[in-house]
Amino acid sequence: MSGPSSSDGPDEVTAPTAERVEQLVREAIAAFAQATTAADLNTARLAHTGDRSPLALANRGIGQLPPADRKDAGRLIGQARGKVNQALAARREEVEAAELETMLQAETVDVTVPVELSPVGAVHPITGLIDRISDVFVAMGWEVAEGPEAEAEWLNFDALNIAPDHPARGETDTLFVDPPEAGVVMRTHTSPVQGRTLLDRELPVYVVCPGKVYRADEFDATHVPVFHQIEGLCVDKGITLGHLKGTLDHFARATFGDVRTRIRPNYFPFTEPSAELDLECFVCHGDSVGNPDRPCRTCSSEGWIEWGGCGVVNPRVLIAAGIDPEVYSGFAFGMGIERTMMFRNNAADMRDMVEGDIRFSRSLVGGAR
Ligand code: PHE
Repeated sequence: MSGPSSSDGPDEVTAPTAERVEQLVREAIAAFAQATTAADLNTARLAHTGDRSPLALANRGIGQLPPADRKDAGRLIGQARGKVNQALAARREEVEAAELETMLQAETVDVTVPVELSPVGAVHPITGLIDRISDVFVAMGWEVAEGPEAEAEWLNFDALNIAPDHPARGETDTLFVDPPEAGVVMRTHTSPVQGRTLLDRELPVYVVCPGKVYRADEFDATHVPVFHQIEGLCVDKGITLGHLKGTLDHFARATFGDVRTRIRPNYFPFTEPSAELDLECFVCHGDSVGNPDRPCRTCSSEGWIEWGGCGVVNPRVLIAAGIDPEVYSGFAFGMGIERTMMFRNNAADMRDMVEGDIRFSRSLVGGAR
């Protein structure tokens, strides 16, 4: 009879027991559970479901089982492989989710962590105020002009009708550049830019000139030997004192807000008539005037504070620049920037403006600009 004989081998192949198969399933699931990375899981997958895994080998052995055993063995092993594959898929999802979570955590940017910001710096309050004022005039179509700080004595004085015997020319006020006979001074005001402008530019001119000026002055709360002015000069046909007043009113309001102004007669050799522009006292608004019970230190109970000089350009200045005063006229003004900052930002001591202490600049942030 044909049939497997004990010497052929196949009858040595026996169907795996249910316990054995269950054990293989448990081992596989345990190995998957231990794997915490995709790489580990892949190793476990090869070991428990790969071609050489016990279950795969058992599956392959089914064909060699006695035909009567094959069906049960096939079901047993098939179910076992199904369980193992399900467990693998479930574990793969877990491992991938965990890996994604780890990666997201590693890449998280905590926007609430305090950052160490290094200060970016800022323009000095005086520069900021100069820019701001220049903008007011540029917006009206004026130009910004500049001139040297070491200036010809002739432009600083003579061209402005300041005679050689004028007290302002004395050595007590003016810093002369060595040697004195060279005729160079540190400009005592920005007004020499008037002469430069009239000599250099075509008429009409509408210019402002901000810059440093030098005086042999005290260094105290209201005087510094080097300070800043902004000069204004307009020369055109038909310019009157009314234009001056209107322009300065606009300048005052753009700088200080709603403030009343007045012009008061004064004398400057280079303007005729000349005036001082006063601002209504921003502390007492005039309430201290004639009211000894409520004195005001800011305006000395006068109700007004002096802002700067102004006037109609003296025809002599026009003539010195070769301009016919019968055809052209103009006005000029000059304001101290530090003084403007004192009023505008309530800065009581001018020395703060030059000493460079950043706490002063910071206190003006949002005020000076
Ligand atoms: N230069 C004058 C001063 O320094 C100010 C001024 C400028 C006056 C222009 C009149 C016209 O005091």
